[in-house]
Amino acid sequence: MKKKYVIAFDQGTTSTRTIVFDEKGSIIAISQKELTQHYPQSGWVEHDPLEIYNDQLETFNTALSDSGINPEEIAAIGITNQRETTVVWDKDTGEPIHNAIVWLDKRTIEICKKLKQQGLSSYIKKNTGLVIDSYFSGTKLKWILDHVKGAQEKAEQGKLLFGTIDSWLIYKFTKGKKHVTDHTNASRTMIYNIKELCWDDKLLNALNIPKSMLPSVENSSSDFGSINYNGIEIPIYGVAGDQQASLFGQGGFESGIAKSTYGTGCFILLNTGNKQVISKKGLLTTLTCSLDSESVNYALEGSVFAGGASIQWLRDRMQLIEKASDTEAICKSTPPLKNIYVVPAFAGLGAPHWDSKAKGSIYGMTLDTGKNEVIKATVEALAYQTKDVIGAMEKDNGKKITTLKVDGGASANNYLMQFQSDLLNVNVDRPKMIEVTAFGAALLAGIKAGLWRKSDIASIREVDTIFNPEMSKKTRKQNYKGWKKAIKRTKRK
Ligand code: G3P
Repeated sequence: MKKKYVIAFDQGTTSTRTIVFDEKGSIIAISQKELTQHYPQSGWVEHDPLEIYNDQLETFNTALSDSGINPEEIAAIGITNQRETTVVWDKDTGEPIHNAIVWLDKRTIEICKKLKQQGLSSYIKKNTGLVIDSYFSGTKLKWILDHVKGAQEKAEQGKLLFGTIDSWLIYKFTKGKKHVTDHTNASRTMIYNIKELCWDDKLLNALNIPKSMLPSVENSSSDFGSINYNGIEIPIYGVAGDQQASLFGQGGFESGIAKSTYGTGCFILLNTGNKQVISKKGLLTTLTCSLDSESVNYALEGSVFAGGASIQWLRDRMQLIEKASDTEAICKSTPPLKNIYVVPAFAGLGAPHWDSKAKGSIYGMTLDTGKNEVIKATVEALAYQTKDVIGAMEKDNGKKITTLKVDGGASANNYLMQFQSDLLNVNVDRPKMIEVTAFGAALLAGIKAGLWRKSDIASIREVDTIFNPEMSKKTRKQNYKGWKKAIKRTKRK
């Protein structure tokens, strides 16, 4: 039986999905479950790792039966996941010893402070590509070892395992046979050396993390074990953190290609080829999807914490809209804003500002400011934050970006995409199929399975719209000047 389908597991911050792709890269089935968010204290965010696994399994079963395909026709599975989120589990029982600490969680600010006091900032930047921040896995893992009774001791006895969500899912789906991750996920832990491509002993010592807990790190397109589905072994041939998966799915294999994903956050990546650019402008250096160890490339990344999350805030907390898609018509029918800015620093400010204490703020309101203006300013904030990151990237890399490839839920908003193009003064290229993250993981798996080649992306990726800049230089400058002032007033540092 011809193996002509590829499955993607897309385990994100707010949902868990399984998508079935056919050999043309078209979606033939999707199954999705919302993920419960736990907020035990202000600034803390947790997920239940068992809920994640069970949801992944359930969506896998549903997507397979909805698609009507024979499981024997599946060439491979690719996994893409929310990055940095940290799970620690017992090696013998496979039971998590604590809820997963989510990337957005801020509880390790104090541990980060200590690392800074130890003078590790520059070492961490050069060797992991990251800045010291509670965003990354290393300090979350330390927190679990410090706070779960007996954990440090058990870890030292080799009885506990650590993983990001990809490792956790693979461990569960392979019934404990594989404890692995890939280059992209490892590069988000703050304990992985992206120059030497190995776990960093100095940082493991600084955080008191035993090496025996860590997964082995493989190329993103390689053999990660297999899932037994009713007696049929289906190989897992692709693994990548979601933002690198989307860069891959956009065809961002070469130096100079930039993409922005408008998800819970906004994540902007620029492929810099085999050049490890160390940012002077507050960006991160991260690994891109690897097909073999020679093809390990670097990217500059800017992560904006509140992207689609701020639209959810409009809907769920402020109750200004019924659904996210309402914002497009509201933005279009509301006259251009005069100096009104929403800075959605709900989880602090990420790249390039890095201020974990900043809080969300609204500026420039007058008596004639109504809810539509606040909605429009919130949508525009996604574009302003993206511009901050792209500006920093251009300075770091010494080159202008000519096109920005976009994907993610909010990229469907035509007003936002046009405003993004206007602000950046570059073309914004939106593909027809915006499930690019899942497709990136499927592509990694399909390549290893021999179903696709990298070059097939040219025929698979179809352009939906290219947004060309229309705003005058003067307006662009004025708008951005106001935004920069708002950011300055929001910062606590
Ligand atoms: O770095 C965090 C990122 O991987 C989360 O992505 O799509 O789940 O918001 P998403």
